[in-house]
Amino acid sequence: MTGSARRTRVTVIGGGVIGLSCAWRLARAGTDVTLVELDPEQGASRIAAGMLAPITEAHPTEPGLLATGRLSVDAWPQFAAELADTGIDPGYTTTGTLVVGYSADDLAALEELAARLATLGIDVERLTGSACRRYEPALAPGVRGGLSVPGDHSVDNRAVLRGLQAAVAVAGVRVVAEGTGETTGADVTVVAAGAWTPLLVPALADLVRPARGENVRLTAGRHTPVLTRTVRALVDGRAVYLVPRSTGELVVGATQDEVGFDRTVTAGGIHRLLTDARRALPTIDEYALAETSAGLRPMSADGAPLVGWISDDTVVATGHGRNGILLAPLTAALVTQLVTGVGGAPDAEVVRAFAPDRFASGTRRAAHPTGGGTR
Ligand code: GLY
Repeated sequence: MTGSARRTRVTVIGGGVIGLSCAWRLARAGTDVTLVELDPEQGASRIAAGMLAPITEAHPTEPGLLATGRLSVDAWPQFAAELADTGIDPGYTTTGTLVVGYSADDLAALEELAARLATLGIDVERLTGSACRRYEPALAPGVRGGLSVPGDHSVDNRAVLRGLQAAVAVAGVRVVAEGTGETTGADVTVVAAGAWTPLLVPALADLVRPARGENVRLTAGRHTPVLTRTVRALVDGRAVYLVPRSTGELVVGATQDEVGFDRTVTAGGIHRLLTDARRALPTIDEYALAETSAGLRPMSADGAPLVGWISDDTVVATGHGRNGILLAPLTAALVTQLVTGVGGAPDAEVVRAFAPDRFASGTRRAAHPTGGGTR
């Protein structure tokens, strides 16, 4: 080749937080990127609540996620600052998370959580009910106790998506709609199509499956008492989370059901969310009901995503389950390192935790160890 070397051509398939983040970082690393945008209305990224919560989303059956989630949460301040350079504020909020309980059994479950976190080296502050209400005066007086988790943050996921769309444009990514036939001729294809990835990459059949999550978006009135941090409530054993934004939006979620590619918003799901949220925050009665929605999380068997080469010319980035927004910076950095070498050698532990072939010798079934139902 004469003159400067030809740039590596990369096609990224997917228009959610993972596909956009990969396209952005790959273009900034000097590759020639085309993003084939799948219908953004369908994806999980729009429906997500935007929690960056490696600690309170940690689950005993998903040990690989805590360390990688913490790495990614540490990458968020820089990622958010660079997104804000587009002029779109991603709503990065660092007021932390409060976990609260309403019954004696809920308190026992919180104690179990605190003890488990302590064994992982994470100390959380135990709070009485009145201390919880000092943090968040709008909480219902019935709150019996809680835990303060200052390291779990949030972003406004829809603002993040808008910021990423602006950022990829600035970085020179060509964005084309699905089915335009512009995908041929790439040196490398990155498939980041969430729960739909196995339909494009049959080798992932049985490794990634959809899990429906329903949620509700509410809007506070000008004088309605609001939350200042994420609240995760255990209400008679059922978990519900409430994620406030400085705009007055409150996202209440989320159910988890294994019903295939069914995005129906059910009356039962929304009733359950509103009932439990109202136990924690009675003032939601005064909020406007802005939206009910359902998204399909791409779940893997061990909760960690599948990010890596699956053939000489194809990388996958899927299976982010309940943590796609959280893991976007780490995933984009890893994909960029794998494809371009920019950013140095990838962290061996992250490569191992996310390796798409890690199930090869064990079970290939993506069934979640805890089964379906609401988490
Ligand atoms: N990360 C919260 C959820 O998936 O519901």
